[in-house]
Amino acid sequence: MQIKKEKKEIVWQNSQVTGVDRQALLGYQSLVLWFTGFSGAGKSTLAFALERRLVTHGINCSVLDGDNVRHGLNRDLGFSPLDRSENIRRVAEVARLMIDAGLIVITSFISPYREDRAMARSIIGAEKFFEVYLSTALDICEQRDTKGLYRKARSGELPCFTGISSPYEAPEDAELSIDTSMRSVDACVEYLLQTVINHCSLK
Ligand code: ADX
Repeated sequence: MQIKKEKKEIVWQNSQVTGVDRQALLGYQSLVLWFTGFSGAGKSTLAFALERRLVTHGINCSVLDGDNVRHGLNRDLGFSPLDRSENIRRVAEVARLMIDAGLIVITSFISPYREDRAMARSIIGAEKFFEVYLSTALDICEQRDTKGLYRKARSGELPCFTGISSPYEAPEDAELSIDTSMRSVDACVEYLLQTVINHCSLK
């Protein structure tokens, strides 16, 4: 895919509302919780359960989920390395717009390449980027096979499947690692909720 370079005739327009203004309005700082891990590691389950818990707690947040985003914004993308990279670039740009609006954003993407996650960190800004590695082992994800995709990948029906025929580069410096085979969903969500509360200095 060809991505057009910035043109010098396009000029950045500044908002008159700062991040500090939004924090004063909302009572917390925005943040991106970037979940990465194999399909079946628990990213979407935890993302949506955490979203529910945060909203109940009075904190406005929103989930960007791989499967959902690929139904709309990124419906033109597949699973080649270049397409996955573009997937992550667009999602990072959207997440940046959402944190500018004051939201806490939870992203749920395999995001298998270190370089792409580093790109997301740089687009979003390191101070607003909190990487959560769902380190659940591949054999457990394959046993779960919640969507039946590992079976299809093993039979050759689904090419370039992460962990089977496409690589996953585990994070080396994630802010947090969680193995969902070791704790219940409720325990993981509680832990993540406390992490967000501590990190975002909520009222
Ligand atoms: S990413 O690698 O580009 O970050 P993303 O998180 O958007 O992937 O999408 C992954 C989801 O797409 C998986 O949870 C699965 O449901 C579906 N999927 C379909 N084909 C593949 C594939 N070849 N590899 C991984 N996931 C796939």
